[in-house]
Amino acid sequence: MTRRPCRTFALPRQCASAPAWTALIDKFRAFRLEALRTSPTAFTSSLEREQAFGRDVWEERLRNPGATIVVAVEEGVETDAVDAALQSEWLGMAALIAAQDGAAAWLNGVFVTPAARHRGVGSALLKGCLREGSALRAGLLYQVMVSADNVAAIKLYEKAGFVICDDESESLRMERVAEC
Ligand SMILES: CC(C)(COP(=O)(O)OP(=O)(O)OC[C@H]1O[C@@H](n2cnc3c(N)ncnc32)[C@H](O)[C@@H]1OP(=O)(O)O)[C@@H](O)C(=O)NCCC(=O)NCCS
Repeated sequence: MTRRPCRTFALPRQCASAPAWTALIDKFRAFRLEALRTSPTAFTSSLEREQAFGRDVWEERLRNPGATIVVAVEEGVETDAVDAALQSEWLGMAALIAAQDGAAAWLNGVFVTPAARHRGVGSALLKGCLREGSALRAGLLYQVMVSADNVAAIKLYEKAGFVICDDESESLRMERVAEC
């Protein structure tokens, strides 16, 4: 497949326009539910569980100061504005969630739409998360849990410098230390 470039940016945690904010919450919810629908075995959560969440839960996820939601869009889309997030087609999404001690962060919900796979979007999302993480703290330890049979994800993380640290269960813990 041709590797058309993509761009990543972090979703804003707030917006002055109430209708735009509501639309962003709806888009975020729909994309996450689509991830759970198309890749039901990739995540510890489920479509049924998250479909039942009220708007407050989705809004809380977006507003959470300890979480950064990174999305991937086609190259050429304006970044870092609510309008851009609303008007563009999202190719993928990932969350970076800071651990309580601030020295580590978890990658969560990494997902690329089936139509956009195998063209570097997953790698770009990871780079985007690492970029956001390096702005939080130098030398951050990045961690991710992945099913032992999720070969695509394991390879993706390995390519981004993650190594398997704990493989004693059906889920592997992988980690990567940021360059200082
Ligand atoms: C895992 C996932 C995010 C990869 O996204 P992607 O955009 O296709 O990944 P990339 O194109 O950036 O691939 C980067 C590397 O990952 C590896 N990779 C990706 N898909 C792969 C596959 N199906 N089989 C083996 N390796 C794969 C390759 O090493 C690839 O590098 P290469 O293209 O130079 O060979 C995507 O398949 C996905 O969303 N899967 C369902 C959700 C999921 O499993 N999330 C992870 C939860 S822990």
